Amino acid sequence: MRTDSPKTIYRKDYTPPSYLVETVELGFDLDPACTIVASRVQLRHNPDSKSRDLVLHGEAIELVALRMNGRELNPDQYIIDNNILTIRNAPVNVLLEIETTCVPMENTTLSGLYTSGSGFYTQCEAEGFRRITYFPDRPDVMARYTVMLRADKQQYPVLLSNGNLLEEGDLGDGRHYAKWEDPFKKPSYLFALVAARLVCQEEKYKLKSGREVLLQVWVEEGNLDKTDYAMQSLKNSIRWDEERWGLELDLDRFMIVAVSDFNMGAMENKGLNIFNTKFVLANPRTATDIDYSGIEAVVGHEYFHNWTGNRVTCRDWFQLSLKEGLTVFRDQEFSADMIGTDSGRAVTRIDQVRTLRQAQFPEDAGPMAHPVRPDSFVEINNFYTVTVYEKGAEVVRMYQTLLGREGFRKGMDLYFERHDGQAVQCDDFRAAMADANERDLKQFERWYSQAGTPVVSVSGHHDGARQVYELTLRQSCPATPGQRDKKPFHIPVAVGLLGSDGKDLPLTLGGKALGTTAVLELTAAEQTFRFEGVAHAPVPSILRDFSAPVVLEYPYSDEELLHLFRYDSDPVNRWEAGQRLAMQRLLSLAQAVLDNKPLQLDDTYVAALRAVLTDKELDAAFREQCLILPSETIIAEQMEVVHPQAIHSARQFMRHAIGTALRAELLQVYGDNATPGPYSPDAISAGKRGLKNVALAYLLVQPNTEAVKLAGEQFAAASNMTDRAAALSSLIHSGADAGKQLDAFYTDFKGEALVVDKWFAMQGSAPHTNVAKVRELMKHPAFTLKNPNRARSLLFSFCNNNPSQFHAADGSAYEFWAEHVIKLDALNPQVAARLARSMDRWRRYAPALQIHMRHALEKVAAATPLSNDVMEVVSKALS
Ligand code: ARG
Ligand code: ZN
Repeated sequence: MRTDSPKTIYRKDYTPPSYLVETVELGFDLDPACTIVASRVQLRHNPDSKSRDLVLHGEAIELVALRMNGRELNPDQYIIDNNILTIRNAPVNVLLEIETTCVPMENTTLSGLYTSGSGFYTQCEAEGFRRITYFPDRPDVMARYTVMLRADKQQYPVLLSNGNLLEEGDLGDGRHYAKWEDPFKKPSYLFALVAARLVCQEEKYKLKSGREVLLQVWVEEGNLDKTDYAMQSLKNSIRWDEERWGLELDLDRFMIVAVSDFNMGAMENKGLNIFNTKFVLANPRTATDIDYSGIEAVVGHEYFHNWTGNRVTCRDWFQLSLKEGLTVFRDQEFSADMIGTDSGRAVTRIDQVRTLRQAQFPEDAGPMAHPVRPDSFVEINNFYTVTVYEKGAEVVRMYQTLLGREGFRKGMDLYFERHDGQAVQCDDFRAAMADANERDLKQFERWYSQAGTPVVSVSGHHDGARQVYELTLRQSCPATPGQRDKKPFHIPVAVGLLGSDGKDLPLTLGGKALGTTAVLELTAAEQTFRFEGVAHAPVPSILRDFSAPVVLEYPYSDEELLHLFRYDSDPVNRWEAGQRLAMQRLLSLAQAVLDNKPLQLDDTYVAALRAVLTDKELDAAFREQCLILPSETIIAEQMEVVHPQAIHSARQFMRHAIGTALRAELLQVYGDNATPGPYSPDAISAGKRGLKNVALAYLLVQPNTEAVKLAGEQFAAASNMTDRAAALSSLIHSGADAGKQLDAFYTDFKGEALVVDKWFAMQGSAPHTNVAKVRELMKHPAFTLKNPNRARSLLFSFCNNNPSQFHAADGSAYEFWAEHVIKLDALNPQVAARLARSMDRWRRYAPALQIHMRHALEKVAAATPLSNDVMEVVSKALS
C-alpha cells in the first residue's frame, strides 16, 4: 500500500550500489503467523561509489534486531524512512546481523514469503526479497547464499531452496531442518524457498558432457498424474540449449515447483523454478492442446533464463527486456524447433504476430506506451508487459534476421564470454552483436529507446521497358507519451516478388543475386530499392515472416491479395493476405451496421477461404489459422472511433455467412480431422483438433439443430479436454442452451482447479454473458478473488475478451470493473493493476461510452487506500 505519494523512478538517475554483498546466510523459522528471519550479510564498500551510506530495503516486515560488526545498533544509529533503512557513514567492511519477522499467511500480495494451501512459497522478482529481510534489494548486487530452513516436519515435510542440499535432519520438538547452498552468485530477486507437503516426479538426466543431474517436478499430492509433460519439456529444454546455443546446465540439481496461488506464469529462481500450476499440470483429461504448448514454452522459458537472466543478469529493472525479450525469443525458437517442420514453425510465428496485434500494438498506442527499455516507472511490476516481453523478443529476432543465424550465434557467444557473472544493460547485448559481426548497430538502439509501433508505407512501380521493379519504403512512428518526434528505425524488411504464375521471382539488387527473399534494410525515412530483370509487374510479398514489429501499409487490390493468399511461398504472408481480405470486409460490415445498411459477404472471399479449407496439401494447423478472423480487439484498433457492438455484429455476421456458405466443406473437414486413439499433444494431432474445432465453431455460430447435436455428441464422447472444452465453448458462445453440459462439466471437474478456471473463463467471454450474469457467477461457491487464476478466469475474460458486453451502453460493466479493481487492490495490487489496464484505450471509444469510462477511471483514482500499482495505471490513463 502507498505510504507516500507515488514517486517516479528514472533510468538516468542510476547510481552504483554503495555496498556490495559477498555472502548471505539466511535462517528461517517458518510459521504462517510469525516467521522469524535471521540474516548474516557480509558487505564491502563499492569502490565505484562515492557514498558511504549503507542502504537496505525492507517492506512489510518487523525489525527485531540489527547488529553491525558484532555491536547492536540503537534506533538512533540508523534511519528507517519510506521502506529504506540507511546506516550513515558505515565502515568499509560490514557484517550485518539482522532479525526480522513477517506474517506469511496474511500476505495476499503473493510477493515475498506467502502461504498457498498448506505450504510456504516465495516470489522475489522484482522487489519481493525486501518483504523477507532488509537487504540491498537490487539486481546489480550479487552474492552467494546459504539458507537454513526450519519448520514443522508433519506439515512441511519438504524444505527446498536454491542450489544444493548440504544437510537435513530432525530438530526434536516435531521440527526439522534443511540447509541449502547456492554455489553461484545471484541477485536477491532469484532467491526462493518452498516448505510444503509435496511429492515429486524425479529423474536422473545425463548432459551431453556426460555429467548427471537430478531433475524434479514437485506438486501437491494427487497431481503426480499431471507431471509427465513438464518433465519431458524440461529434458527437451536442456537438450535444446546444449544443441542450439552450446549452453549447459550449471547445477547438479534442477527443481520445478507448482503452486496454485501465483501472480504471473512462473519464476526462474536459481535451481528452484516456481510455477503457476497452470504451466505445469497436464494430462489429457484436464489440459487442452493450448495448455500443453503453454507448458512447453514456459518450462523452456524459465530454464533458458538460467543463462539469459541468471548467469548474465540485469543491471537495473529498466533493462528488464535484456533478459525477458531474449528469453522469450529463445522459448519461441525452442517451441518452433520442437515442431521441426517449416510449416509448423510458421504457425507458431502466426501466433506470435496475433499476440502482438492483440496486445502489444494497443499497448504501444495507449497511455501506458513505453520503450522496450523504459526511461521511468512508478511501480516496476507494471512493466512486465507485452512490450518488454514480446516486442523485446521481436527486437532480438531482428538481430538474427539482420546478422543471419550464424552471426547471431557469434553475438550470443561473445555476450556470454564478456558478461558471464555480471549485471549488464541492453546496450551491452547490442554491442556484443555488433562487435562479433563487425557491424554498426548504432541506429538499432532506437528500438530500445523509442516507443510506438512504426508504420512502413510501401509503394511499387514497374518499368517494363527497363525491366525494373521499384519498391519505395517510407517509415514513420506515431507520438507516444513523452515522445513527440521519432527518428527513423533500422528495420529489416524481408521481401519476395510473385510472378503471375504465383512462383517466386529470383531477386537481383544492384547486380547481386539474392535468392527469392531479400532482407531490405530500411534505415532512412524514405528509401527506394530497385529490383532488376523484372519483365512483368509482380505482386510484392512484403514483411515476410513478419520480419519487424511494424504496421505495413501497401495499397493491395483484392486481386493481389487473393494471389498472395493462394500462392505466397511464405506461409506467414500467405496467412496475412487472408487476414487483410477479411479485415477490409469486417470494417465495411461494421460501417454498414452503424449506417443501418444491409449486410452482405461477397463470394470471392468465401471462395478463397474454401480453397484453403479444402486444400489437403496444407497442414491442418495452418488451415485453422487462415479460418480465424481478426479478433474484435484487433478490428477495434483499425477504427478511428470504436463501436464494440457494431464490430461484434459485423464479425458474427461474417462468421455466420462463412459457416452457412461453407457448411458442406466444414462438415467434411470436421469428419476428416478426427484424432482417434490415445491423445497426443504433438503438433500434427493438435492441428487436426484445432481445425476440427474451428469448423465446429463455424457450424455453430448460431444455435441450429444439427450443429448443436454435433457439439453435444462431441462433448459427451470426448476423450480429452481439448475436444470437450471446445464443444462446450462452442455451445455457450452460440447462445444455445448448454445448462446441462455446463453442470456436467462442473460436476466432473470440480476437484480440478485449473478446469474450473476454464469453466468460468468460457462463460465470462461468451457474448451472451452480461454483467448481471457475471455478478451471479461470482456468487458460485467456487469463485474467489483471492486466487489470481480464478479472478482472471472470470473477471479478466469478461473485461478483456467479451467486448460487446464489457462496453454495454449503460456503462454498468465499467462500474463493475471499477468496483473490482478496488476490491482486488486491497488483496493483491499486482493483479488489480492488470485488471486496471482493461480501460487503456478508453479515449478511442464512442463519446457516449467515454463518459462512463472516465467516470469509472475517476472512481478508481479517488479510492483510498490505493496501491502505487493501480494509481500509476489509472493516472496515466486519465492524463
Ligand atoms: N521473470 C519471470 C518470467 O518472466 C516473471 C516474474 C515477474 N513477477 C513479477 N511479480 N513481476 O519468467
Ligand atoms: Zn522471463
